[in-house]
Amino acid sequence: MKALVLAGGAGTRLRPLTHTGAKQLVPVANRPVLFYVVDNLVDAGVVDIGVIVSPESSAEITRALGDGSAFGANFSYILQEKPAGLAHAVATARTYLGDDDFVMYLGDNLVGMKIREMVESFARDASLAGSVMLKEVPNPSAFGVAETDEKGEVVGLVEKPKEPKSNLALVGIYLFRKSIFDAIARIQPSARGELEITDAINRLILDGGRVRFTHLDKWWLDTGKKDDLLLANDTVLDDWLVSGVEGEVDAASVCTGRVRIGKGTRIERSVIRGPVIIGENAHICDARIEPFTAIGDGVTVVRSTVAHSVVMEKTSIVDIERVADSLIGKRVVLRQGSPRHHTLSLMIGDDCVVELSKE
Ligand code: DAU
Repeated sequence: MKALVLAGGAGTRLRPLTHTGAKQLVPVANRPVLFYVVDNLVDAGVVDIGVIVSPESSAEITRALGDGSAFGANFSYILQEKPAGLAHAVATARTYLGDDDFVMYLGDNLVGMKIREMVESFARDASLAGSVMLKEVPNPSAFGVAETDEKGEVVGLVEKPKEPKSNLALVGIYLFRKSIFDAIARIQPSARGELEITDAINRLILDGGRVRFTHLDKWWLDTGKKDDLLLANDTVLDDWLVSGVEGEVDAASVCTGRVRIGKGTRIERSVIRGPVIIGENAHICDARIEPFTAIGDGVTVVRSTVAHSVVMEKTSIVDIERVADSLIGKRVVLRQGSPRHHTLSLMIGDDCVVELSKE
């Protein structure tokens, strides 16, 4: 069994963070979403992993993932020249996948469930043409939607239907055999101009193939938007954070709850209330870090409070009374300016959102 991880695409949904970075690399509890995807595959015993990259994402994804040895996996990078759809990505990987069965996993999907059982039962049952993961959602029109029968099989799929026939969305994890290539060769681009994997799966079903589904009964986080990303961060800190202090915490500081602090980080005269993760080489001084916060590598927080936020690497926050519910990118500087009454002095990139409280 091989895997195909999709880390291509245009990456425009999490602007401005993805102007400069692939959305699959957005950090959740200080680890790129893509790392959790690889963990889940390796846990299921799938270590030969093809990674679809786009011309824009290629350098960054390759740098972050490496050759796979850090994960106990072997990565092969496959360039998809344009984001022509999920089925197009699969067809692009035809040579890499060969005749093997494979797991296809969307690189921006984070799920709270191990896929091992789904993978093993697909491998055991040669009569299945495919297997998908489904979960109820309140807004099915934003997803691929499945119609199922009482045998636990999929009878039809529609991509982003205006009038969904169920509330069961396709989670971005699929299992296929080589028969999918023939199905892809027989579909046409959709109204949005993409070769849709949902259409290819439908083709399999119309040809008499059995497609089973696994119901996802744990959380599923789409990290596309700020609130989703904060929720993903909360959930991962809540479920998976293991305490550990590798940096230095001085005697005047207090850490309570589950707190993880990376190498080279110094905590001075500060209060850290977990669950909190702080990366490497950060400096927290005369500050408070409140629950459900992830502070990236090389971040400085001085005389400030940060609560329920994601602060990415090398950002500095100095003399700010309280930052909460925020997603702050890399190398940002947040500090007090000259004391001009009712005046803000800003340098903010495109598509940012700044919310100020009115006293
Ligand atoms: O998240 C689940 C949904 O993912 C499913 O319910 C839908 O059926 C499925 O079509 C897909 O919908 P999206 O419109 O959200 O897919 P998106 O374009 O965001 O692409 C998903 C991932 O695949 C993302 O990491 C980028 C990557 N990708 C996407 C395209 C279109 C590629 O690598 N190549 C591509 O050509």
